[in-house]
Amino acid sequence: MSASKVIVSAAANVALIKYWGKANTRGNQPATGSLSIGLDDLRTTTTLSFSASGSDTIHADLDEKSCQRLISFLDHARVTYRVDSHFEVTTHNNFPTGAGLASSASGFAAMAMAVDALLGLQLSPTDLTRLARTGSGSAARSVFDGYVEVVPEEDAYAAQIMPSNDWPMDVLVAVTDAGPKAIGSTEAMKITASTSDYYASWVESHADDIATAKAALAARDFEKLADVSEQSCLKMHATMMTSQPPILYWRPETLEIIERVRSLRAGGTPAFFTIDAGPQVKVVCLPEAAATVKDALDLKSVSQLIETKVGGQPTIQTA
Ligand code: DP6
Repeated sequence: MSASKVIVSAAANVALIKYWGKANTRGNQPATGSLSIGLDDLRTTTTLSFSASGSDTIHADLDEKSCQRLISFLDHARVTYRVDSHFEVTTHNNFPTGAGLASSASGFAAMAMAVDALLGLQLSPTDLTRLARTGSGSAARSVFDGYVEVVPEEDAYAAQIMPSNDWPMDVLVAVTDAGPKAIGSTEAMKITASTSDYYASWVESHADDIATAKAALAARDFEKLADVSEQSCLKMHATMMTSQPPILYWRPETLEIIERVRSLRAGGTPAFFTIDAGPQVKVVCLPEAAATVKDALDLKSVSQLIETKVGGQPTIQTA
């Protein structure tokens, strides 16, 4: 049965084993798998209802391009599910948007779930992740709580590896610059894939990194997970830095935080870093280390510290 209004809250996620490059830009079919953790407190809330005006209306603090992306997503849904409805969309992020903090992941996961519920499509969880992926590759992973992977099959989908309660972890997001990034991930990964000499080996070594991370999760081996996650992050950035033109998201502040986290870990604190398409650093740690990590991140270069934990169960209300 369809509803007349749906409110969805979906969480951002951060990949430990990164997605960077597409096999096919249509539908954001990724060139590799990826593995992520949900960020419980970084959320998009989206309200969707039918529009009587014959066109989609977006109420959001988003630039023109991002609004257009939402409308393209709705166009895709109309064609796929053979409906001619138009929608009223209100969407809000409780964290900086477009700054490399995965706003497209939570945003398109929320949209996919809202469209499914409003139209009464009753998609399976797997097909919901595929629909979210057509909005943004990383959004497939935000349909689930906890530890999630993208399986890079022909029509790639996301699956939960384990729920967050099975291995509680904290995440501290060190924001260095909350402004929008100079180049979005979609465009940046296109440049990387077509120009970096390192791209082929990035793709080739990827399945091994996923396998290592999954083995580390199964064994609750923090050190192993930390090593492979930092390596995947550094490999992704090295690959994009060697593109033509080079893509360099880091700032001096980014490197200062990386150094802090490396020295914490060398001193025995269970914490590691990861960085997406922006200058912010996410620090993942065991809960008992969170206070130490927080103290270590009390730096002038950190303009905002967002404290959260691995989680991210989406919620949905219908009216
Ligand atoms: C660095 O999912 O934003 O965060 O599929 O083009 O929308 P599109 O890209 P997007 O890319 C995410 C890149 C990343 C790594 C990751 O989340 O795996």
